[in-house]
Amino acid sequence: FHLYLDSADLSELKTCLPHPVVHGVTTNPTLLKRAGIGRGEVPGLLKRCIELGARQVQAQVYSSEVDGMLEDAAALLSHFDRGQLVVKIPATRQGLDAGARLIAQGVPVTWTAVYAPEQAHFAAQLGAAYAAPYLGRLDDAGVNGLALIAQMQALVALRPSSGTRLLVASIRSREAYLALLALGVGAITIPPRLFAELLDHPATLAAERGFLADARALP
Ligand code: E4P
Repeated sequence: FHLYLDSADLSELKTCLPHPVVHGVTTNPTLLKRAGIGRGEVPGLLKRCIELGARQVQAQVYSSEVDGMLEDAAALLSHFDRGQLVVKIPATRQGLDAGARLIAQGVPVTWTAVYAPEQAHFAAQLGAAYAAPYLGRLDDAGVNGLALIAQMQALVALRPSSGTRLLVASIRSREAYLALLALGVGAITIPPRLFAELLDHPATLAAERGFLADARALP
């Protein structure tokens, strides 16, 4: 299981990294804009995440055309060792084309903004590393996001040799995270503030305070 942190804010990421259960960091242009990061700063930001213990980092292409996507991918990949950077590409017609070419070169690819089971199946058919559906945004659209993701998971599981994992994004609560774990999805990306909530259970912290007090009182 791969747990990612979904953020481009280094100060926020530093509150969670390094951490042994975190596989990596995912970003997209919206997260970059929110964090005030320019395109030229993306490789540096993600290399810093690797120094902080991320095993893989993900950055998205900026173009919507095949050639532009491939140029964006090549520019990003030039800064990383093989396998460190996963190239995120929206699961459009052009994105599938560009992604398939990258996969043929051995580049790990995430097809992102996946909203339908057949898109997840294309990812598994072509051997993408990940297909990324957005749970919260599916629910926002009035769809039962969890049921749809269950359908995607069943299709991906039919092709285990592809190695494709669902990487579920747009997770807004602990309940959503737990429901996805129960479905057996292969990867989840969550905002650092939700990760902190999962790490710091109030009852565990209270129990620890009790143990510490008792430890101090021991002869
Ligand atoms: C995915 O790549 C997005 O960063 C993110 O998960 C979307 O989350 P939101 O729908 O809560 O904004």
